[in-house]
Amino acid sequence: MEVDSVSEITAALLLLLLLLFTVWSRSHRSHIPGPFFLAGLGPLLSYSRFIWTGIGTASNYYNKKYGSMVRVWINGEETLILSRSSAVYHVLKSAHYTARFGSKKGLECVGMEGRGIIFNSDVPLWSKVRAYFSKALTGPGLQRTVRVCVSSTAKHLDRLQEMSDPSQHVDALNLLRAVVVEISNRLFLRVPLNEKDLLQKIQNYFETWQTVLIKPDIFFKIGWLYNKHKTAAQELQDVMESLLEEKRKMINESEKLDDDRDFATELIFAQNIGELSADNVRQCVLEMVIAAPDTLSISLFFMLMLLKQNPDVELRIVEEMNTVISQKDENIDYHSLKVLDSFINESLRFHPVVDFTMRKALEDDSIDGIQIPKGTNIILNIGLMHKSEFFPKPEEFSLMNFDKTVPSRFFQPFGCGPRSCVGKHIAMVMMKAILVTLLSRYTVCPRRGCTLDSIRQTNNLSQQPVEDEHGLAMRFIPRTA
Ligand code: HEM
Ligand SMILES: *[C@@H]1O[C@H](CO)[C@@H](O)[C@H](O)[C@H]1NC(C)=O
Ligand SMILES: *[C@@H]1O[C@H](CO)[C@@H](O)[C@H](O)[C@H]1NC(C)=O
Ligand SMILES: *[C@@H]1O[C@H](CO)[C@@H](O)[C@H](O)[C@H]1NC(C)=O
Repeated sequence: MEVDSVSEITAALLLLLLLLFTVWSRSHRSHIPGPFFLAGLGPLLSYSRFIWTGIGTASNYYNKKYGSMVRVWINGEETLILSRSSAVYHVLKSAHYTARFGSKKGLECVGMEGRGIIFNSDVPLWSKVRAYFSKALTGPGLQRTVRVCVSSTAKHLDRLQEMSDPSQHVDALNLLRAVVVEISNRLFLRVPLNEKDLLQKIQNYFETWQTVLIKPDIFFKIGWLYNKHKTAAQELQDVMESLLEEKRKMINESEKLDDDRDFATELIFAQNIGELSADNVRQCVLEMVIAAPDTLSISLFFMLMLLKQNPDVELRIVEEMNTVISQKDENIDYHSLKVLDSFINESLRFHPVVDFTMRKALEDDSIDGIQIPKGTNIILNIGLMHKSEFFPKPEEFSLMNFDKTVPSRFFQPFGCGPRSCVGKHIAMVMMKAILVTLLSRYTVCPRRGCTLDSIRQTNNLSQQPVEDEHGLAMRFIPRTA
């Protein structure tokens, strides 16, 4: 009797010690600040925050609450959110973080699981595919890129009247999307297409992508929630399939092929020799076509808003343009547009479209002296990183922020290293060519009282204005003399 209860007490004590030890070692294994585990409640709460407020908004919340390196949980997986430039730079540069994370079922829904480039985490296959993107987005064709951007922009501006409502307002974001999707088609695919229909499907696809990206598996079993997203993804994939079918015919019928093969042609040839699967080719073309409308057109929209709120900056840009253009008539030397360059940089810093990026640790590593186990999810909060430390006026829009050369580790709107934005160079060229063409003919005027602060925005996968009613309409006023 006596002996029994003693051993029971000992057992209970041992159990308690074991429990304490587990808790202790858990909290010591990752001594990174963040919400408490609280018997599983912590992970549930942090995941809910990501689902309900969006990844971008939740990341900002946690970085502001716990500091520049935070540990949270997404779908039960440990996830670090980094906004400190040394930590972000380490991850960007390292070869250990070339994968991304996201719900497997969600990525399957949008065709990105093990395919395409953007969220493809099959590293050898991603690497193979990335070479095709690099080839199409860098190197010689730059002069051609400028020509295509200038002429597509001019063409749409000539037809401004068709897009105007009775009060002479134009939905500026949709205009920019139309310009950008035409440019992408002329550069990478070159098949006649229905711009408006394609743009609608791109928007639906994007909506689906940001909805499914980190959803729990159960979401994909609930038909009435999931089916409409499945359909939206399928519709864009079907359009791509038929455009590619068209392209294959065109290739088959044309006589000479070797001079200047575009992106789609290169991929079709890669498929013909068994390098890439048909599904992968379709996904790559799809991602190339959505990349610019999802990012560049919204960046340009934000820039037009910022110009209106900073008329002195607009004046400086236009003056600079006039000097450079009058010197060299048609062929503009974009490198000499320094004010424009600072303006674009400052816009990407102050009001970015893409303000975070998602990675996964492929190896054990240490960041700023903290152990990072293999498999950890990483969110690089570059948007918040751009608002701190280094810049003279971090919370304001001011070209002064780029008066001095900014060391690369403090400014990374496109990322850098092996998994950076593969379109970073062409994106800068495109933005300059489109802005110069637009601003040399028009000055824009948003609706009264409409500023960047007053437009509703969401930040699930990237920062997007909410397109309700006439909120995004602007008047395009011709510049005289
Ligand atoms: C203002 C415009 C743009 C911004 C701000 C932007 C920004 C970004 C960022 C931050 C990433 C993630 C990088 C990382 O994880 O480190 C990314 C990835 C990517 N971007 Fe861009 N981008 C822009 C325009 C474009 C354009 C025009 C294209 C192509 C035509 C493009 C193609 C891509 C692709 C394919 C990836 C995925 C790369 C990979 O995972 O290997 N982007 N972009
Ligand atoms: C994006 O986030 C907002 C919250 O800011 C939410 O209301 C909206 O439904 C989200 N949209 C999607 C498609 O997830
Ligand atoms: C290419 O054209 C030939 C006839 O000119 C035809 O037999 C062949 O099926 C075509 N291939 C494709 C992929 O369209
Ligand atoms: C703008 O940013 C890029 C890096 O994205 C940099 O190379 C360039 O020098 C910057 N321009 C100015 C004027 O600071």
